[in-house]
Amino acid sequence: MKTNILNDQLFADFQSSITAIDEAQMLPPVCYTDGEFHEFEKEAIFNHEWLCVGRESWARVPGEFFTTSHCGEPIVVVRNRDGVLKALSTVCQHRAMLVAEGHGRTKTFLCPYHHWVYSLDGQLIGAPAMERACGFDKKQVRLAEFKLEIWLGFVFINFDRDAPPLAPRLEALRMAVENYKAELADGPRPDGSTTYPWNWKVMFRSLHSKHHNKRRVKIQLAPANLHWCSDNALTALSDASSKYDVPMHMHLNETAYQKEYAWRRGNCTALEYIDRFGMVNERLTLGHGVWLNEKDIDRLAAARSCVCHNCSSNFRLRSGVAALNHFEKMGINTAIGIDEAGINDDRDMLQEMKLVLRAHRVPGMIEADVPTMAQVLRMATVGGARTTPYGSSIGTIEIGKAADMVLLDWNSIAYPYLDELTPTLDAVLQRAKNQAVTMTMCDGEVIYHDGKFTKVDKTEALKALHDDLSRALADDEVERRKLSVAILPHVRKFYSGYIDPSKHEPFYRPSSMI
Ligand code: FES
Repeated sequence: MKTNILNDQLFADFQSSITAIDEAQMLPPVCYTDGEFHEFEKEAIFNHEWLCVGRESWARVPGEFFTTSHCGEPIVVVRNRDGVLKALSTVCQHRAMLVAEGHGRTKTFLCPYHHWVYSLDGQLIGAPAMERACGFDKKQVRLAEFKLEIWLGFVFINFDRDAPPLAPRLEALRMAVENYKAELADGPRPDGSTTYPWNWKVMFRSLHSKHHNKRRVKIQLAPANLHWCSDNALTALSDASSKYDVPMHMHLNETAYQKEYAWRRGNCTALEYIDRFGMVNERLTLGHGVWLNEKDIDRLAAARSCVCHNCSSNFRLRSGVAALNHFEKMGINTAIGIDEAGINDDRDMLQEMKLVLRAHRVPGMIEADVPTMAQVLRMATVGGARTTPYGSSIGTIEIGKAADMVLLDWNSIAYPYLDELTPTLDAVLQRAKNQAVTMTMCDGEVIYHDGKFTKVDKTEALKALHDDLSRALADDEVERRKLSVAILPHVRKFYSGYIDPSKHEPFYRPSSMI
């Protein structure tokens, strides 16, 4: 290494540091401040010396890992499937994203950027979309590995593959400290934060730049809910949505607990809270919105935001009944969602449409007060499209739009008898079951026809699912299951007095309380 700093003057300045201990002075100031001297130190010492990075006990079982860094090199120490401790670089070999942060237990390292997957030994075992790359061989790619040695329970690593072993050098010290039984000592792992708020932004920008011009793939933002977003995250989300002009789908006010949470956090409703960050606008869709109040709904209508109505999920999870009729009255665009919690554990949109049609039939004689067939169809088509980045290209059958359509077998709807005066749409919504679907087309491409999917082998896919999910649970999964059972009573206790029901009555009540 070439350096200008190792000059005669520096060596002369060292003189005052190497005199008798009661007179000696600190090293010359440049040793603490000069970047060039730091580079020299790194090359002369840190790149070739054994560096202590933690305790062996911080990764006791296969898959357990912790991360650290030395000289700017991010490192993960992990116990592999054979129980051997490994020290690997966490820098992904694709585009240098970090594949591990904080600590935890895992079966593989999944790069959050483009989802390359590495084994616990650092070997690349999955690289989506690289199958067609010429000359690319997964077996030739792996995370860099560093030398590792354990001494009295301490984990040392060395960036220099040719470094001689550490233990012989420390033999005298080992004898001196033998009585302390350091190898049995245990200590807490420094708990660094395992959440890195910048990751999602990097990923979003990367995915957006890759896909935003594509016809069938689009990227939008979907923060999970207010209680999972810090104020910084809300600010960043709002900025990203506006800068890239992408829609944002956010679950909000799904339960009365979430309503109360917002009051405790910001002394306002959840909608008012996110409005402080400029999130309530025409790009926003709220998932659920069960516990919005009338003022919130006015605000949504004025901002031209949308609501995705997850009717069966709201019933199933005891979340309440969304004020769909009021949304409609205020002219809010609504969509139909299933929220992974459909009635039959499937994704039957025809059934969901029937439920939306039925669930909001408040007593009375005025037809305009309850959902109409046309409204439900609109929610499931153009209304839904408007909540996504495909708003202008799907949802209606028009020249220039993507041909997204479903064909239904009329006989299975009309047989054995249908009064000829029954409107077609009424018959479809009231009677069609998913067995009536004969063809599904996506952007002009048939993806399902006469009981067969054209793109996937359903039998194979279901078998793979069955085989994968039928395997015995891994140790960590058993642990998590036990933990969830153990923690539940405490969660119930925490929430037992969380809300005052009298303060959280929904304004939208389809029937009398007495
Ligand atoms: S950077 Fe890791 S997969 Fe692309």
